[in-house]
Amino acid sequence: MNNLVKTLINRMSRVTQTPLTQKHMDILEFAHTYYEKNRVGPLYLNLKKNTGASRDEIEDLFPHGLTSVYTWVGIPIQTGREICKPMAMVDVDDYREVYFDHNATSYIRDEVKETLISYYQGSFGFGNPSSSTNPGKIAYDTLQNARSQISDCLKVKSNEIFFTGSGSEANNMAIKGIAFQHLENRGHIISSKVEHPSVLKTLQYLEKLGFRVTYLDIEKNGLIDVNSVKESLSEDTLLVSLMAVNNEIGAINPISEIGEVCKKANVPFMVDGIQGFCKIKLKPTEMGISLLSMSGHKIYAPKGVAALYVNKDISLESLIHGGGQESGLRSGTENVGSIMAFGLAAKLAYSEMEKENKRLLELRDYFLEGLQKIEPGVIINGSLEQRTANNLNIGFPNIDSGSLLLSLNQIGIYVSAGSACSAGSKEASYVIKALGVDTDHYGIIRFSFGLPNTKEDINYLLKYLPSILEQLKAEKAD
Ligand SMILES: Cc1ncc(COP(=O)(O)O)c(C=O)c1O
Repeated sequence: MNNLVKTLINRMSRVTQTPLTQKHMDILEFAHTYYEKNRVGPLYLNLKKNTGASRDEIEDLFPHGLTSVYTWVGIPIQTGREICKPMAMVDVDDYREVYFDHNATSYIRDEVKETLISYYQGSFGFGNPSSSTNPGKIAYDTLQNARSQISDCLKVKSNEIFFTGSGSEANNMAIKGIAFQHLENRGHIISSKVEHPSVLKTLQYLEKLGFRVTYLDIEKNGLIDVNSVKESLSEDTLLVSLMAVNNEIGAINPISEIGEVCKKANVPFMVDGIQGFCKIKLKPTEMGISLLSMSGHKIYAPKGVAALYVNKDISLESLIHGGGQESGLRSGTENVGSIMAFGLAAKLAYSEMEKENKRLLELRDYFLEGLQKIEPGVIINGSLEQRTANNLNIGFPNIDSGSLLLSLNQIGIYVSAGSACSAGSKEASYVIKALGVDTDHYGIIRFSFGLPNTKEDINYLLKYLPSILEQLKAEKAD
């Protein structure tokens, strides 16, 4: 413990008139070390195991029990409903790292990594794709090849693909790009309450500029009702912007049906395709999609590279002005290496899509079956049928989702929580809230599977989950 913590302990002991004993110090020392390592305070159970002090003893030794232990060594705690609960502790004898968070991001797969290495080693030159020199021509051809690889996945023309620096940028480029063409008359946009922040925040910004936005509700199964789109269309609707696949619950929207409605109304249809690209079939020409965003890091390519499909009949206002790259839509010298990697990753993911979806579905069913045996009270958020094969969003009864996430993290299992800290937190995900899930009683965890995951990974999770849930439930009941 550093001097600052020691001073804090002495001060707290004085203020609360609690004479310090060796037992106090052992408990405080362990709590401090534990927090330094895990960034969360230990449970009573952990303290007992490591210092021998029972809950009753700790409550006798410290004026406010565990809360005092935390405050005395500077472990931040919040009060009320937003309290971050401590995590469970399990001893694992077969530690492995299991990544179940592919909706957040993916690693770079080997084939793509090799391409990146050869690019950065100079095998593809360093030229500027806008230059007329030989190195420039090589870089230009590299870009065009990647453009074709992406357009092949959507069955569109390669000159309808524009590269950007992120999926968020592609969403901004599409939505603002259309809206800025209507600055004179402003107008109406239809979207939903469960879009990604890169869409929602863009729409809120446009509202400040005087645009009107209808945010559609979702059905109980997590999907948009086509009729709600139809009913919300008005004379001045200039865009419908809806996601193909929801990032939290994996729900797949009825894109073709919505596309048909938009086509009939002659309103451009923008699809945030970032969680759906190479996971479900997305064919803009057949499905009435005018604009569609994709992002590299969801499909085993690097972060910071993405693309927007823009139908040839759609015209967009450009957001980044300069040298006129990407046909004037997005100035800035292209990130050739990453784009090249993105093209290859898309080609591979698209060609494997059917087989991989089948494999993931089997894996997901296997997981769900095991999970329901361990905890029959779990709920599945969103439709199980209309969802991508790689996603399962689960509500655990009477479990703090933040604690569950950290407990799993401690044994090498990585997932996402549907609330920032605890079940019932004000921070509970807006997507889960929109579904009407009782976040006071369910801790929400998203499992998203990917290429490297196997049955052994699931078995590892199922092996340790019962003990974790048992400890967390005991802690919550106290
Ligand atoms: C549905 C959806 N849209 C947009 C984005 C933003 O993409 P990026 O991280 O490339 O900016 C994400 C990323 O999580 C997403 O899941």
